[in-house]
Amino acid sequence: MEYIEVTGGNPLRGSIRPAAAKNSVLPLLAATLLCAQPCTLRRVPLLRDVQTSLDLLRAVGSGAAWAGQDLVTQPARQISGRVPTALAGAMRGSVFYLAPLLTRAGWAELPLPGGCRLGPRPIDIHLAGLTAMGAQVCAAAECVVLRRHGVLRGTDFALRLPSVGATLTLMLAACCAAGVTTLRGAACEPEIADTAAFLNACGAKITGAGTPVVCIRGTGGELLDGCVHTVLPDRIAAATYAAAAIAGGRVTVTQCSPVWLAAFLDFLQGSGCEVARGENEFSITRDQDTKLRGGQELVAAAYPGLATDTAPLAAAVLLGAEGASRIYDGLFQNRFACAQGFAALGADARSEGRLLYLGGSAKLHGATVTAPDLRGGAALVLAGLGVGEGSCVRVLDAGHIRRGYADLAGDLRRLGADCRAGRTGTEAGRQTKKL
Ligand code: EPU
Repeated sequence: MEYIEVTGGNPLRGSIRPAAAKNSVLPLLAATLLCAQPCTLRRVPLLRDVQTSLDLLRAVGSGAAWAGQDLVTQPARQISGRVPTALAGAMRGSVFYLAPLLTRAGWAELPLPGGCRLGPRPIDIHLAGLTAMGAQVCAAAECVVLRRHGVLRGTDFALRLPSVGATLTLMLAACCAAGVTTLRGAACEPEIADTAAFLNACGAKITGAGTPVVCIRGTGGELLDGCVHTVLPDRIAAATYAAAAIAGGRVTVTQCSPVWLAAFLDFLQGSGCEVARGENEFSITRDQDTKLRGGQELVAAAYPGLATDTAPLAAAVLLGAEGASRIYDGLFQNRFACAQGFAALGADARSEGRLLYLGGSAKLHGATVTAPDLRGGAALVLAGLGVGEGSCVRVLDAGHIRRGYADLAGDLRRLGADCRAGRTGTEAGRQTKKL
């Protein structure tokens, strides 16, 4: 089993550039199925979800190869509409293949997508939008099966809530449909504008992406071209490095606009960190001897609100802060499964449904805890930066973390943390050999 181990006490110093955003790269790789020419995505991190996407592309008849840190996709002549169960179940991002497979193969068969267990994650909005475009839903229980008869057609569709995934699905479906699609109540996350920028560079005609009303003029069945695209930086990884301010010191995040995580930086500032914002970089400074301010009521919401993915990171910052805080997640019902790990480290932390309660002023100590999901796992690693000098936190099941960070332990180590990644199986194996 993979783990990450952190020994507390080291202040962090240095600068770091986030890799390309996972939540852009995943839909972009699916979108390349709509392209008749090769596409290059720049500086893509080797995340577990990226590897799953590459396996999935290969399974449906397409493919991509690494060229250094770039990924170059090869257009496919023939595409199968079937996503293998293991790949669908390995990540939520498998849902992005519904629309491209339906467009290319005329049918799509997607066993229910996996991903972090953050509560119910239905895909009814994806399906309602695709149905409005003329797709037929043949099955939707354990495995979603869609068919189309003729080219999908443009439509005027209002999303019942601003789902990021559904906005992306419908944008992808509309690119090669006949006529104009208007999406109302669309999600506004930066990854949606980034996906639209990629599609437009490939010849799509999308306006308004990043606002609640997105218009897409379809090609009427023609495929798109290819392009070279520099993916948006990962704002959640950037927030993770910023939250490392728990340890004290000064961290500069480069090549990343502070606007993309403004709500998180406002939170850090409100907690007593010094935040210096430039045009395309920002620095967080925290004096180790000054207590952070708790007493906060945070609400995670859709962009530009405090991102749900940063809510557990904010919690890690608040564990030792002075005063009780509460964080409410408006998007997911079970965002705070990491509360158990926080409590094992000595924090007064408990989650009740969407609400996380933090007593504050915790004197954290070392312990072995388990990553419940991707961001919860990263939050437990961050909490480890705040334990007393010499105490050690071991986060088990760190495979969750590698779904979204190529090397979180390495990133923190380069900033000065005493942090390393390992595998329990390997160590046990080595000991047996010695004996
Ligand atoms: N929802 C529905 N019906 C739908 C779609 C969504 O009820 O058809 C509900 C969900 O159940 C949830 C809420 O709407 O309660 C928000 O879901 P959304 O569709 O916006 O999220 P997602 O597309 O499933 C993406 C990211 C998440 C990120 C959220 C919110 C990917 C692969 N995942 O998920 O990222 O938290 O948007 O910003 O893009 C992560 O990176 O760790 C992660 C979980």
